[in-house]
Amino acid sequence: MTAKEQKQRLKEIKKFNAKKYKEYNKNQRRKRAPESEYVTKMADNDNIIEFDDLKTYFYTDIGTVKAVDGVSFEIKRGKTIGVVGESGCGKSVTSLSVMGLLQGPTGQVAGGSIRFNQVGKNRAVDLTKLPVKEYEKIRGNEISMIFQEPMTTLNPVFTIGDQLMECIALHNPNMKKKDIEARALETLEMVGIKRDGMLDLYPHELSGGMRQRVVIAMALSCNPQLIIADEPTTALDVTIQAQILDLLRELKDKINASIMLITHDLGVVAEMADYVVVMYAGRIVEQGTADDIFHHPAHPYTIGLMKSKPMLGEHVDRLYSIPGNVPNPINLPEHCYFKNRCEMCVDKCEGAYPELISLSETHKVSCYLRENEVKGEN
Ligand SMILES: Nc1ncnc2c1ncn2[C@@H]1O[C@H](COP(=O)(O)OP(=O)(O)O)[C@@H](O)[C@H]1O
Ligand SMILES: [Mg+2]
Repeated sequence: MTAKEQKQRLKEIKKFNAKKYKEYNKNQRRKRAPESEYVTKMADNDNIIEFDDLKTYFYTDIGTVKAVDGVSFEIKRGKTIGVVGESGCGKSVTSLSVMGLLQGPTGQVAGGSIRFNQVGKNRAVDLTKLPVKEYEKIRGNEISMIFQEPMTTLNPVFTIGDQLMECIALHNPNMKKKDIEARALETLEMVGIKRDGMLDLYPHELSGGMRQRVVIAMALSCNPQLIIADEPTTALDVTIQAQILDLLRELKDKINASIMLITHDLGVVAEMADYVVVMYAGRIVEQGTADDIFHHPAHPYTIGLMKSKPMLGEHVDRLYSIPGNVPNPINLPEHCYFKNRCEMCVDKCEGAYPELISLSETHKVSCYLRENEVKGEN
């Protein structure tokens, strides 16, 4: 590309982005909207949330980053789903899209829908169409989020008690102060913190693991139906990690919420998840039950992730790692995004991006290799 062409291209991108930003800003000003614009129907009422061809893009100066590009999956009520993939695959952007926390106007939902089942209200809403005021009612109330680094959630200048009680008060405007305090203590106890004067401590007086427990307590304090945990144990030491996972598992049964557990660590998913979604460069390459994924992985990417997981009782000199890196999801080729790193390519991989095919009722994969298997042409 000549310098002149380059300049022209950047100008075009700028113009295109300006248009997108304008659309976004117009939409953001929409604080309220008639219900008909966002109330929808679940495809299956047993699901708490349904992602339907979700596309989340970032309109940047160098072009459109398709961080999430046509992702569809669902989470059943009371179940845990693990979302896995290396760094940069679009896991966090997926969760931020649910929470309505994308950094606009650069980041926007560009297409598709996220249907959320408001079980208590007997209705479903499309989160991507939700006006700001309605979002505030759902966020932190019916859906709550646990971030990787607890200090991003906790405010260093307020005590744990203040923050937890504020959270409870916000979501229960009619609750008395005494009841709020009792509720705060009860939630802390639920996450395994039982200590005198706990409410008066500041975040810096706690260890990393304790802080993450407090964050989990905050997330639980309003009985959410869906909890999104984005790498909840990544910032912690291994031993503390195990404790937090135990805690999450224990809570899972107690609170009967659905959990969307995001992690790059297959070991974590193996311990927690009923279903697994494997993402690569903004798309789902494989999904299935934990048994499908762990015992019958079909996509070369999943197989690679599995091989790079340390196994107990198995001696290896060097742990396998998939060669290469996740591509930046900007101007991606038409063919399979994993092709350049794949050790199992077939001729067809040069062709169009492979469709998601069903290997069984629960197990789906997007790979030409398996297409042959399904048809028995092996
Ligand atoms: N604010 C942003 N602006 C531009 N690109 C972004 C932004 N946030 C995330 N991305 C890109 O989106 C892709 C997915 O990121 P992310 O969802 O954070 O990955 P991960 O799977 O590690 O959570 C990455 O390529 C990342 O560079
Ligand atoms: Mg992330």
